[in-house]
Amino acid sequence: MCGIVGYTGSKDAYPILIKGLQRLEYRGYDSAGVALMNDKTTLHKCKGKVVDLQNHIGSGLTTGTAGIGHTRWATHGEPNDVNAHPHTSMSGDIVLIHNGIIENYDSVRKELIHRGYTFHSETDTEVLVNLIEEIKKSEACSLSEAIRKALNEVIGAYAIVVMSNSEPGTLVAAKKSSPLVIGIGPDKDYYLASDATPIVEYTKNVVYLEDGEIAEIIPGKDLKLFTIQKQNVTPYIQELELQLEQLEKSGYDHFMLKEIYEQPRSVRDSLRGRLNLAAGLVHLGGMADYEQKLLNANRITIVACGTSWHAGLVGEYLIEDLARIPVEVEYASEFRYRNPIITEKDVVIAISQSGETADTLAALELAKSKGATILGICNVVGSTISRTTHGGSYTHAGPEIGVASTKAFTSQVTVLSLLALMLGNKKGSIERSKFLRLLYGLNEIPEKIERALQTNDLVELISAKFKDASNFLYLGRGYCFPVALEGALKLKEISYIHAEGYPAAEMKHGPIALIDEEMPVVVIATKGPSYEKVVSNIQEVKARKGVLIAIVTEGDTQVKEMADYTIEIPETDEIFSPLVASVPLQLLSYHIAVMRECNVDQPRNLAKSVTVE
Ligand code: AGP
Ligand code: GLU
Repeated sequence: MCGIVGYTGSKDAYPILIKGLQRLEYRGYDSAGVALMNDKTTLHKCKGKVVDLQNHIGSGLTTGTAGIGHTRWATHGEPNDVNAHPHTSMSGDIVLIHNGIIENYDSVRKELIHRGYTFHSETDTEVLVNLIEEIKKSEACSLSEAIRKALNEVIGAYAIVVMSNSEPGTLVAAKKSSPLVIGIGPDKDYYLASDATPIVEYTKNVVYLEDGEIAEIIPGKDLKLFTIQKQNVTPYIQELELQLEQLEKSGYDHFMLKEIYEQPRSVRDSLRGRLNLAAGLVHLGGMADYEQKLLNANRITIVACGTSWHAGLVGEYLIEDLARIPVEVEYASEFRYRNPIITEKDVVIAISQSGETADTLAALELAKSKGATILGICNVVGSTISRTTHGGSYTHAGPEIGVASTKAFTSQVTVLSLLALMLGNKKGSIERSKFLRLLYGLNEIPEKIERALQTNDLVELISAKFKDASNFLYLGRGYCFPVALEGALKLKEISYIHAEGYPAAEMKHGPIALIDEEMPVVVIATKGPSYEKVVSNIQEVKARKGVLIAIVTEGDTQVKEMADYTIEIPETDEIFSPLVASVPLQLLSYHIAVMRECNVDQPRNLAKSVTVE
């Protein structure tokens, strides 16, 4: 995601835009820009943060009472001056900022090139602004009508604000899937932003645009709303109640909780444009060129750290299970020093939210030096790891501010699920009807995460009972073994309670000696091939008076009778269980940490990106 702002009225726009971008920088910060309307638009943009933009502008022209601004979180085209927003149409008449992804940008771009358009950036956004220009010119219509027609031709997600030299002072805004708020000032001046944080200091009267709505904003006049089907809409003006601090976290107490609750959207964004149910296909653009390398690999080695390593372990299970290609998951810090045997027949995949983790980067460079094909699954576009690899796929989870990784994990597992399905389908190692069933199953995951989030109140009650525990054990089997590891890491890193994740069957080889009535044991016992085995492990724990917290499939009665506390989550295909079972464990660690008054978003001793060895 990114941050977008706009203003039109009687005040100087520039200071309003800059301050607004600073408030939205948590939404994306790889490049920034503003466009100001004087007799024509003046454009300033550059790679870096908002402060870099201000330095870039220096004593440049910043007058104008209408303008738009953008702080980017790149999805198409790496962070640089050219790909920064705002983007201008070829003639220079129209200037636009965008939050979201235009999925059919490639086909639209080809058609516009055919009509003589030239492009300077690699972004999907520049395609949209030129489509609007083409319609405005060819149909000699207003800016808002050209935008309405253009939005009927594009597929994807957008929150846009657009200006045109031919209609100075007018802003046109539109929204689908990405957020956009319009603040109405006392003098009918208008403030626009991705959320209310840049607006609340000027006015409490806001209109939240709905999907498919377009706003034509002329200072001094009433707000005009209509749909992309040209139906007029009466603006619903609300009064803001939240305080600024709360607004930045969208009303959540911590970024971590906000990001846990963003997972239905972030997993949907990870799937966007990649899962084609109608055609029964998976398309991972950045991996497509390396499909044969992957299919013919002696072995796929996944290198990662921490939570990303746990996602990699799920990936091992997925790819071996569905595509029958040998996979090894390695701690990057170990891999890089153990003189591994790597040849040009190997494919090495790095998984990294930040794309800057030193150990992971070093492991990649070692693999590259030995002739392997190196691919990446990163969340930050243009990050060092993403630029070091031969190819890869972005997770599109949006900025993850909380140090404890949550939505990045489920987005990583989503991309790995897509990869395993794509390879299995290409290799013919998945029976076609099973493949199609799994595609539909994966497509339903965002909704199932939504339902898993509804366990929050129950999890909070359970958390209160265990906030003072000294140790935890997390147990899981099969696809849920990595979930046990991830749940334990979450608890450790934000509540500072010692916790260990174990394969459930491994208990009897030592850890069972730890079990007593002081030891909370979290068991993931969702429906699957090893369910009965996990039930046996639960009995072993109960026989030693262990206190049991069980994550079960909705409707489970057997484990429910045995566990001290049961958290029910929706049924999924076993292979997708990590995507849903991890949610209550994220909430458990969050609530325990809050009750222990820990710094949830910035836990002691930790950093969001470990760029040192
Ligand atoms: C996860 O909650 C931790 N913050 C940490 O283990 C993290 O996953 C690890 O440092 C790897 O970071 P990366 O994904 O940015 O490479
Ligand atoms: N897809 C656009 C780009 O990559 C917008 C990304 C965003 O929402 O920040 O520039």
